[in-house]
Amino acid sequence: MNEIKIFSPATVANVACGFDVMGFCLDSVGDEMVIRKIDKKGIFITKSEGFDLPLKTEENVAGVSALAMYQAAQPDCGFEIEIYKNIKPGSGIGSSAASAVGSVFGMNELLGRPYNKTQLTEFAIKGEALASKCEHADNLAPAMFGGFTLVKSVSPLEILEIPTPSDLYATIIHPQIEIKTSEARAILPKDISLSNAITQWANFGSFIHALHTSNYELIRKSLHDVVIEPYRKKLIPHYDEVKSAVLNAGGLGVGISGSGPSIFSLSKGVENAEKVKLAMNDVYSKTGLAFDIHLTKINSEGIKIIP
Ligand code: HSE
Repeated sequence: MNEIKIFSPATVANVACGFDVMGFCLDSVGDEMVIRKIDKKGIFITKSEGFDLPLKTEENVAGVSALAMYQAAQPDCGFEIEIYKNIKPGSGIGSSAASAVGSVFGMNELLGRPYNKTQLTEFAIKGEALASKCEHADNLAPAMFGGFTLVKSVSPLEILEIPTPSDLYATIIHPQIEIKTSEARAILPKDISLSNAITQWANFGSFIHALHTSNYELIRKSLHDVVIEPYRKKLIPHYDEVKSAVLNAGGLGVGISGSGPSIFSLSKGVENAEKVKLAMNDVYSKTGLAFDIHLTKINSEGIKIIP
C-alpha cells in the first residue's frame, strides 16, 4: 500500500469544566487527507484545498507533525500530503488538531504501524503547537482515539479513554468569525481563586463519574465552567443568549467549544439535540451573522481510513 485516504474528525475540547484536558470527537464533521509514500525523501504538502493554508512543510500544522514523526522514524522514503480541509481554521472545533493527527496517522499506516496512538499524538502535539503556541493535546486525543478522552499528563503523554453514554448527542453552532487559540489563551488569567478551583474540580470529577455511569442528570449538573468562560465568552457574539436558549430547550449543558467561537451543547437523545439546534438557530438567525450548526453523535472511532 503506497497511498491512503483518511477522515480526520473535528473535536470539542475543554467540554466546559475540563480546560486543556478533556475533549470529545464529532461524527459528521472533519477533514479528508491523502497520504502518499514516495521514493524521494522528505515531507511534501502537495495540495491544500478548502482554506488558504501554507504549503511549506515547516509552516503547515500537518507538515510539522509529519516532520516530528519522520525524524524519529527515519524511513527510507518520503511522503506527499494532500489536505482537503472542511474544518475552518479558528472555528474552535479542532481544525489544527485534525491536520496534525491526520498526517501522522496516515504515515504510520503506510509504514506498517510502528507507533501506537499515544506515540502518534506526541508527534501531533508538535503540529498543534505551531497553531496555538502551546503544547496541549485536548483536541488531538479525541481525534486520534475517538469518544471522550482525558489528557492526564502532557509530559510524559498519558491519555485516558472515558466511556460515552450511548444516547449522548452534540450540537455545535459555529459563528463564522475567527478566534485564534493563541489570542484566546492570552486573555486568560495566570492564577485562579481557590474557591473557583474547588468548584471546577468538583464539576470535573462528577462529569467523569457521570460519563462512566451514563448519568445524564449528573452530566447536566457538572457542565459548568467558572474558570475560563467568564473571560472568553466576551469574544463570542450572543453567547449568553445562546446559552439560555439551549438550557431552556432542555440541553444538558452549554460551553465554549475549545477556544471558540463555536458553542457546544450536549443532549440526551436526538430529539432533544434537534430542539437545541432550533434554539441555537433562533438566536443566531436574528443577528444577521453567518453561522453553521452541526448535530452529531459522539464519534467513538476517531480518525479512520476511508475508501
Ligand atoms: N484547550 C485549548 C484552549 C483548546 O481552550 O485553549 C484549543 O486548542
